[in-house]
Amino acid sequence: MARNLIDIVDFTTEEIEQLIAVAEDIIENPVKYQDACAHKQLATLFFEPSTRTRLSFESAMLSLGGSVLGFSSASSSSTSKGETVGDTIHTVSCYADIIAMRHPKEGAPYAAAQHCDIPIINAGDGGHCHPTQTLTDLLTIHREKGCLSGFTIGFCGDLKFGRTVHSLVNALSRYENINFVFISPEELKLPRYVKEEALKKKGIPYTQTTSLEEALPQLDILYMTRVQKERFFNEEDYIRLKDSYILTPEKLVHAKADLSILHPLPRVNEISVAVDQDPRATYWKQVKNGKFIRMALILKLLGIEV
Ligand code: NCD
Repeated sequence: MARNLIDIVDFTTEEIEQLIAVAEDIIENPVKYQDACAHKQLATLFFEPSTRTRLSFESAMLSLGGSVLGFSSASSSSTSKGETVGDTIHTVSCYADIIAMRHPKEGAPYAAAQHCDIPIINAGDGGHCHPTQTLTDLLTIHREKGCLSGFTIGFCGDLKFGRTVHSLVNALSRYENINFVFISPEELKLPRYVKEEALKKKGIPYTQTTSLEEALPQLDILYMTRVQKERFFNEEDYIRLKDSYILTPEKLVHAKADLSILHPLPRVNEISVAVDQDPRATYWKQVKNGKFIRMALILKLLGIEV
């Protein structure tokens, strides 16, 4: 049975720390890795839009000396003719060595993994989870703060549909002394199942608020998110909620000097462009880190040691 990454808890904290260490070595010594995946092929199957995740996977494989194939929308695959995900995956597993897939249906990558014997990576499944964004976030936090414990992190925006939030909360709940602050409108609160599984079962305290201004001064990390338009059932609700939070330089006056502002991107309105100039803005570094951690992940799942 191939090793997959469907949910972030598929990896132990030791394995995650090893991935971070490999990614940091890749950053320092990229040449050492440039042929590590020669003659290996990565398939990127994106049934939902993506810029960073798909291109960072492709860039990661190319930088390891491998090659890539795949599609970037369901409409250009045989899904549009009615083929099942299982049959598509079975087909691709005849050509590729490893698959990264994104799908609008929660659980689709898990189902896909039952149909093939090569590693499958979940690159985002509906409003459920997004483990490779979490690896990116953990590498970024590690590089900014030097460790993965002992800080206060605020998650702000669409905590209901934001799959990156669900996976990161799950991942961080395994580390020591983390204070979780959830900032969202009533309608977009963190789902009960995430709170139960990641926090309540383990007795981890958390606070919930609707006010970014009130929460900001205590935070070491602020994880901003976009309101997930594509997951809403009606447009009126989206329009009413979409600009609930807008981070501006004025609001940051009351934040800590060593705050790190993360965002999985794409941003819509929730961080004003002026914030990009602030040294606390970390989201463009996060984009770069996404490639290096995916290089480490591909090596791990293919069982290649450098
Ligand atoms: C996120 C996603 O797809 O869930 N984007 C990403 O992969 N970097 C966040 C989002 O779309 O808002």
